[in-house]
Amino acid sequence: MQLTYWRIEALQKNHNRQTFSCDHPALDRYLQQQARQDGEKRVAAVFVLVQPPACQVLGYYTLSASTLNAKEVPPELVRKLPRYPQLPVTLLGRLAVDQQLKGQGMGQFLLMDALHRSLQAAAGIAAMAVVVDAKDALAAAFYQHFGFIPLNLSASRLFLPMATIATLFN
Ligand SMILES: CC(C)(COP(=O)(O)OP(=O)(O)OC[C@H]1O[C@@H](n2cnc3c(N)ncnc32)[C@H](O)[C@@H]1OP(=O)(O)O)[C@@H](O)C(=O)NCCC(=O)NCCS
Repeated sequence: MQLTYWRIEALQKNHNRQTFSCDHPALDRYLQQQARQDGEKRVAAVFVLVQPPACQVLGYYTLSASTLNAKEVPPELVRKLPRYPQLPVTLLGRLAVDQQLKGQGMGQFLLMDALHRSLQAAAGIAAMAVVVDAKDALAAAFYQHFGFIPLNLSASRLFLPMATIATLFN
């Protein structure tokens, strides 16, 4: 009997990205045409969900270093922070699951992996939150389901303080 298990790993040349489809052509196209280049140029770190030994990509997310304008942070939170105009954050730029797997916990698996990886990285290079750019209202609802808070100035940008993320992995 062969056990099936899931792995999230850094995107490599041998990963098959061509069949990936998440119902959002822009997210499919990004994975198929842009992700490898972004990884190579160190613009984004791309992590993919696979079921070894198969190398078909069934989900992915990207992480990049970014900054947040302090004006975007809700007042009750900004009051507790040092008064810098820009704050260091980790950007979860994209996250998607192949449509054949939707509703099976893989979005949550990818999100938790991204948050854990961001928390670990922040121990070496500080980031005070993870920020996401939700593509639409459904995506925003997904992130809010996990406690992400909308930022000021834009309903589609949300964030989760690193201090909150740390409590998830205690
Ligand atoms: C959004 C997306 C990643 C969710 O992935 P998924 O594998 O279907 O979701 P999961 O099965 O892991 O769901 C985990 C939890 O989130 C909830 N959830 C899933 N999608 C949700 C949504 N749009 N709004 C609110 N909650 C949602 C589920 O009900 C589940 O809750 P539970 O654990 O309390 O039962 C997936 O639908 C997708 O790839 N969408 C297209 C791309 C996209 O919108 N990406 C996000 C922003 S760029």
